[in-house]
Amino acid sequence: MTLAFNQRIRQALDDRKQSDLFRSVQTLEGGNQPVFQNNGQRFHNFSSNDYLGLASSDELKSCYQRAVSELGVGSGASPLVTGYSNQHHSLELALTEWLGYEGALFFSSGFAANQAAVFALLKKGDLLIQDRLNHASLMEAGALCDADMKRYRHCDNDHLATLLQTDKPTMAVTESVFSMDGDIADLDTFISACQQAGALSMIDDAHGLGVIGEQGNGAIGCTAQRVDILVVTFGKAFGLNGAAILCSKEMKEYLTQFARHYVYSTAFSAAHAVTITKAIEMIQTQHWRREKLSELGAVYDEVLQSAPGYISTQTPIKPWLVGGEEQVLRLCNALKQEQIWTTAIRPPTVPKGSARLRITLSATHDIEAVEQLATSLKRHSEGC
Ligand SMILES: Cc1ncc(COP(=O)(O)O)c(C=O)c1O
Repeated sequence: MTLAFNQRIRQALDDRKQSDLFRSVQTLEGGNQPVFQNNGQRFHNFSSNDYLGLASSDELKSCYQRAVSELGVGSGASPLVTGYSNQHHSLELALTEWLGYEGALFFSSGFAANQAAVFALLKKGDLLIQDRLNHASLMEAGALCDADMKRYRHCDNDHLATLLQTDKPTMAVTESVFSMDGDIADLDTFISACQQAGALSMIDDAHGLGVIGEQGNGAIGCTAQRVDILVVTFGKAFGLNGAAILCSKEMKEYLTQFARHYVYSTAFSAAHAVTITKAIEMIQTQHWRREKLSELGAVYDEVLQSAPGYISTQTPIKPWLVGGEEQVLRLCNALKQEQIWTTAIRPPTVPKGSARLRITLSATHDIEAVEQLATSLKRHSEGC
């Protein structure tokens, strides 16, 4: 490596370490389960996005196993080559019928789907408006695309409406459930503001679908209005991975031509498509998973609601606000001593001064584990 790159890399790593922002991957055994092992020790998993507990469900595992035996493991190509099968088509029908769209395009990840939509649709001279707490995939797409980008105050649709007063072709994007805060955007006013201004609307429903709305139908269950572009992901409540953009037939045709993440990337496999289709059925019919989440949320709220750091949410994402980077790491490590695994979220993922634990509940947790988590958090917060 050249000296210039060596110096740059070393400096960036040193900066991260000195400001308590260094990240490292942990090797886990069973990170998709409510209890996992790390270095031979057991931990309660309050970190994953597997809200409904589908990632470790026997029903979904058997479906995957059968589909792999029958269909093989890889898709072999991108969708426009040979990567779109009957099974992808069945998934597209199930998804579009459920959520009420004319078409869907599949992607390897939500990150790719978000970037595909922004890059394919926005041109020089256009305006992209985003909630300032939108996910990094959207922020990065906005920063890299040729359009101008403005950000509105978090969940402030009045501010959005002000920014929408422009003659430029405009697209506005919000998350439904915010990944680091667990709060839910007012989707009715978001879509109305876009419609009144003649702007294209887009919702990233990564943390909403499966969890909120009637039968877990996510963002669309929280508004009577139709958002133009709905991005859904299969790596959270679906317990799998991959993503889709749902949209009109014409928009689908356009993205099929011009969304480079779609055209030039290997499709997920037919077996994967079968398993996502099965996950849709489970999400629609297994209400007990959402009921269990409400029950666990109530236990968490009851113990913690008056504790400093507690933030009330209607979703399984329970941020625990700490503030400083060093303090959040200390709390995270103290909980680890008690076999409780949470994630310390620090800048740049969240704004400076708002470092937090991101605690997530899953339908596979038992009540005793949530009580243990809540009691430990309460004790540590009182000790601060
Ligand atoms: C709001 C939001 N959108 C998109 C993504 C990216 O989805 P994926 O993990 O499928 O790439 C995430 C992932 O954490 C997310 O939180």
